[in-house]
Amino acid sequence: LPDDRAARIAALDWPSLQETVAACEACGLCRSRRHTVFGVGDSQADWMVIGEAPGEQEDLKGEPFVGPAGQLLDRMLHAVGRSRTEGGERGVYIANVLKCRPPANRNPQPEEVVRCEPYLRRQVALVQPKIILAMGRFAVQSLLRTDEPIGRLRGRVHRYEGVPVIVTYHPAYLLRNPADKAKSWADLCLAMDTVDTQ
Ligand code: URA
Repeated sequence: LPDDRAARIAALDWPSLQETVAACEACGLCRSRRHTVFGVGDSQADWMVIGEAPGEQEDLKGEPFVGPAGQLLDRMLHAVGRSRTEGGERGVYIANVLKCRPPANRNPQPEEVVRCEPYLRRQVALVQPKIILAMGRFAVQSLLRTDEPIGRLRGRVHRYEGVPVIVTYHPAYLLRNPADKAKSWADLCLAMDTVDTQ
């Protein structure tokens, strides 16, 4: 029963959650993946950044955002004093909605999201971030249960399970649409202000 599975996942501690994801065969993506991509960073960080799904580089390395979009993400995070290699209030935990790469980077399918998102929910519950940055349509849909476009959701503070959520463009989108980088900077500033006023 799917509800049993979600309840089991919701009771796992961090190491068991990692092991469960590494062995996951809950959807067809397990057949084409090279590595699962659990997440990276300090699991007690104040900031949590959530993307869509591993791409080619991430699938090879088993780490999120290590390709071109990840380099842009790292630069943006550095600019606000955050890094995946630091801890606590300078740290950030980075994860995706899907833990396995969709073939040829196609969009996640609804049933893949349904099977995989209990892992993300448990990650958020265990990290207990002070702020979540939801990057792109799939992170936003999963956390906020809305189909509203990013452009209409950004610029204000949303909530997921009580945690403030800032909606912003996915860095892969920014690579194709650099004119929207200014809006993403504004979103990062809103995230900083929101953490400071919590
Ligand atoms: N895009 C994502 O959404 N996540 C990654 O890990 C890499 C690219």
